[in-house]
Amino acid sequence: MNHVRKGISRVARLIGYSISEALNGNSRIIWRYLLFKINLLVHRIDLNYVSIEDLGLSEKRSIWMENSGGPILESILNQLGIGPTDSIIDLGCGKGGAIITFAKFPFRKIAGLDISLDMIRVAQDNFLKLRIDNTELYCCDAGNFLDLDEFNYIYMFNPFKFQVMEEVMSNLCDSAMRNPRSITIIYRNPVCHKVIMKNSTFKFLTAFDERGEIILNPIYKKLYEDTGDTYLYRQDN
Ligand SMILES: C[S@@+](CC[C@H](N)C(=O)[O-])C[C@H]1O[C@@H](n2cnc3c(N)ncnc32)[C@H](O)[C@@H]1O
Repeated sequence: MNHVRKGISRVARLIGYSISEALNGNSRIIWRYLLFKINLLVHRIDLNYVSIEDLGLSEKRSIWMENSGGPILESILNQLGIGPTDSIIDLGCGKGGAIITFAKFPFRKIAGLDISLDMIRVAQDNFLKLRIDNTELYCCDAGNFLDLDEFNYIYMFNPFKFQVMEEVMSNLCDSAMRNPRSITIIYRNPVCHKVIMKNSTFKFLTAFDERGEIILNPIYKKLYEDTGDTYLYRQDN
C-alpha cells in the first residue's frame, strides 16, 4: 500500500513539474524530461537527493547529493562533438546520474569519483540495473585525486566548496603540464567560477542557459559570466 502511495506521489510530482515547466515556456524539453523520468522509474534507479547531514560530510568542503543527469546535460554534450578519443570524469559523481547521461555518448573512458562510499555503492547499483558496464568509480576526496592525465573532459555539478576547488584546479594544472592536451571543464551551477578564473590557465569559453542552449551573443558574455547555468572552460596545450 505504501509502495502504491509513493508511486502516486512521484507521478503527481512529475506532472506538477511538467506543468510548471510548460508555464515557463520550456515545453520542448518536457517530453524528453518525462521519458527520462519514466526510464528511471521503470528501472528503479535511485537518483534522489541526499542532504549534507545524511552524507556525513563537512559543510565547509562539500555540497549535498543532487542529480544533474538527463535531457539538459544531454543537450550540452550534443553540442560538444564528443568522439571515441574523448574521456570524461565526474568529480563528485554522487549516485551516477550524470554518468548515466555520459554513457549515451561514444566516450573512450567514463569515470566518476565521490567522497561518499554510500553514493558510490548506489551509483554501482544504478549502473548494474541499466547495464552500464564501461565506467570506473573511485571513492576519495576530489582534492586528493591526482590521476587526471587521461581525461580531456572534467565534469562538475557544484560538488564542493572553494577550498576543494582550489585543490582540484591545482591538480588539474599540474596534470596539464605533465600531459599537455586540450582540456575542457564543464561546470554546472558554477559557484566557484572565480576560483577557476583566478588560479588557473583555463579560459572561460561559453555559457549554456538552464535549458542547455548555448548563449551565442558575445555581448552578453560578461553578463553570463556571473549568471549562466553551465560554464565551459578550456585550456589548450
Ligand atoms: C551535487 S552532487 C553531484 C552529483 C553528480 N555529479 C550529478 O551531477 O548527478 C555533489 C556530490 O559531490 C560529492 N562530494 C562533495 N564533496 C566532495 C569532495 N570533496 N570530493 C569528492 N566528492 C565530493 C557529494 O558526496 C555529492 O555526491
